[in-house]
Amino acid sequence: MSGTPALAHTREELAGLLAAARGAHRRVGFVPTMGALHEGHASLMARARAEVGDGPVVVSVFVNPLQFGAGEDLDRYPRTLDADLEICAREGVDIVLAPSVEEVYPGWPEQREPEVTVEPGPLATVLEGRVRPGHFRGVLVVVAKLFGLVRPDVAVFGEKDYQQLVLVRRMVTDLCMGVDVVGAETCREPDGLALSSRNRYLDESQRLEAVYLSRALRAAQETAGYGPAVALDSARAELRQAKAVDLDYLVLTTPDLRELPAVVPAGTEARILVAARLGTTRLIDNLPLVLGTAREER
Ligand code: PAJ
Repeated sequence: MSGTPALAHTREELAGLLAAARGAHRRVGFVPTMGALHEGHASLMARARAEVGDGPVVVSVFVNPLQFGAGEDLDRYPRTLDADLEICAREGVDIVLAPSVEEVYPGWPEQREPEVTVEPGPLATVLEGRVRPGHFRGVLVVVAKLFGLVRPDVAVFGEKDYQQLVLVRRMVTDLCMGVDVVGAETCREPDGLALSSRNRYLDESQRLEAVYLSRALRAAQETAGYGPAVALDSARAELRQAKAVDLDYLVLTTPDLRELPAVVPAGTEARILVAARLGTTRLIDNLPLVLGTAREER
């Protein structure tokens, strides 16, 4: 499909457009975003298109206040709808949903949360959830609402926000939402830095040092065959070279973010995740790896 996407600001407009676009037996693909779109987001749209063929692809652009904590960058969050629409048009997106806060949260701002919410469970209290209390609850509430509005068959999320992807999968499974959740690989700058709307806040020297995050993950991936301890050590060795990187966490987990057993059999799939501050900008990244030899300890 090509041409300019239809733009919906209200639930009624969206419902009308979807009914027209869905047609018979077509799968609906969905990519939720907060806008400030870059090539990472574009790759999710391309993936959604590949999943649904000539079925409609819907992109939402909504800066969800519920997932921002006090002192986080809600007001500073870039809002660039015109440029976003251009990227959506280029990727052959059929419908862009760009609702107001009141459209998504009737009763806002007096009533912040809906009365009935999604309780994200223990996975929301570790890693990003430890630093950002309430964040994943806000994410899951809005994703559940957006799923209800769009009724997608397939929804594409980036591995870049790995904990978010795992939690959305968990919600869809635990609450039987019937949406296929597809995880798409992280898009990177040529030097390896994961694309992020926050990269624009890095100054020149921070930008140069930010590359050590992905270099650390890559080093761990390359040495993972020697076991978890070696993998973590080689990642730490990379990070030590970056003086401005204030490390928050560097962890190895199972692919669904559980603790690895003390002894892992060779061939165990795992995930390495990193979070760090450069000045006031917090960056996250992660990669999959396959662990070797059983005798190493974490
Ligand atoms: P946002 O940060 O706009 O990200 C939208 C989607 O783009 C997420 O699935 C995210 O993982 C993916 N993404 C971001 N950077 C990427 C990259 N470099 N490569 C590939 N994919 C990338 O995540 C959110 O919005 C919100 O929490 C949302 C799910 C929309 C709920 O409000």
